[in-house]
Amino acid sequence: MSTPTSPQPLDLPASTLSDADRQRLNSPLTISSGNKTVQLHSRVLQAPLSGVTDLVFRRLVRRYAPQSMMYTEMVHASGICSARKMDKVMDIDPDERPISIQLFDCRPDFMAEAAEKAVAEGADTIDINMGCPVNKITKKGGGSSLLRQPEVAEAIVQAVVDAVDIPVSVKTRIGWSDDEINILDFAQRLEDSGAAMLTIHGRTRSQGYNGPAKWNWIRKVKETVSVPVIANGDINSLDAAIACLSQTGADGVMCSRGTLGYPFLVGEIDHWLQTGERRPAPSLPEQLICARDHLQGLWDYKGQRGLFQARKHMTWYVKGFPGSADLRQQLSRMNSLEEGLALLDQADSLALAAIA
Ligand SMILES: Cc1cc2nc3c(=O)[nH]c(=O)nc-3n(C[C@H](O)[C@H](O)[C@H](O)COP(=O)(O)O)c2cc1C
Repeated sequence: MSTPTSPQPLDLPASTLSDADRQRLNSPLTISSGNKTVQLHSRVLQAPLSGVTDLVFRRLVRRYAPQSMMYTEMVHASGICSARKMDKVMDIDPDERPISIQLFDCRPDFMAEAAEKAVAEGADTIDINMGCPVNKITKKGGGSSLLRQPEVAEAIVQAVVDAVDIPVSVKTRIGWSDDEINILDFAQRLEDSGAAMLTIHGRTRSQGYNGPAKWNWIRKVKETVSVPVIANGDINSLDAAIACLSQTGADGVMCSRGTLGYPFLVGEIDHWLQTGERRPAPSLPEQLICARDHLQGLWDYKGQRGLFQARKHMTWYVKGFPGSADLRQQLSRMNSLEEGLALLDQADSLALAAIA
């Protein structure tokens, strides 16, 4: 199943938040299971994105959203248990707080052991992936296939909750397909098993990443469970976040594809929730400075592998001015840091000319 990276533009009805909702969303969010509690001082979260939300990307997001919770890329529990490679997926800055480590697998004992290791790495919360639609993962019983095995999902949550003394959350979808939307029962089971927070991606597994997210189901989940509910899917702008929060009554939003090449989004939404003011959007040259820091950061952190990963990121940043398509082509093939930086210099000159 492909994972398109350009979100669909939404035709949003004008929405606003009531004063009561604004006040609620401007207060800390407490996530707790028993006496294990974490307080979030921002209701806007950066989603886990495999191949994207490494330490370098999270640092950039946090630059504009210092209080937001970030998630690592999803980590396979059995990979951690066999200690084959903790790799750089679980690497977190000692001062990056709050941080959630996301795990996936379908075996409760592996998940519990991996969660203990994640705590040792410094996780503030453990998130369990029950939403990934990729065949390779669902065929082995993980990700969104757990929506079809609620008893296994319950056993996983219980095992992880028992293993660690930090809150455990779940990120999932609304169901397997339009004919199998079972999120209300599923969410209740997760809560009863000890999940301290639920993030609901408002699509089915069959939808993959296509079609609009069905926020009406997120509202129903919010009306069903007592733990905090975070809305996910199509939060691509401040206006989308406002519309989603007002339509769902959710306790917060999680931004995903809207942050690709735009690590400013989480901070923009958070700033509005905290102050009621719209933070001016960064100019094209400011966005390109961020791209430069991203490229340099990936190079410093991962060397040549980071450079290859930077290719896709750079093509997400470089857009919106004449000549950008050609530069994107070249960036998608860059082979050295110097080449990448020179292409970004050209992008900067073209962007400046376009806004002069
Ligand atoms: C490239 C890519 C990687 C993703 N990796 C993860 C992941 O590791 N864990 C996870 O729970 N969801 C992952 N997702 C799903 C997103 O977190 C999110 O739920 C989904 O993109 C819907 O939000 P959006 O419509 O705002 O993009 C990924 C999505 C994309 C496009």
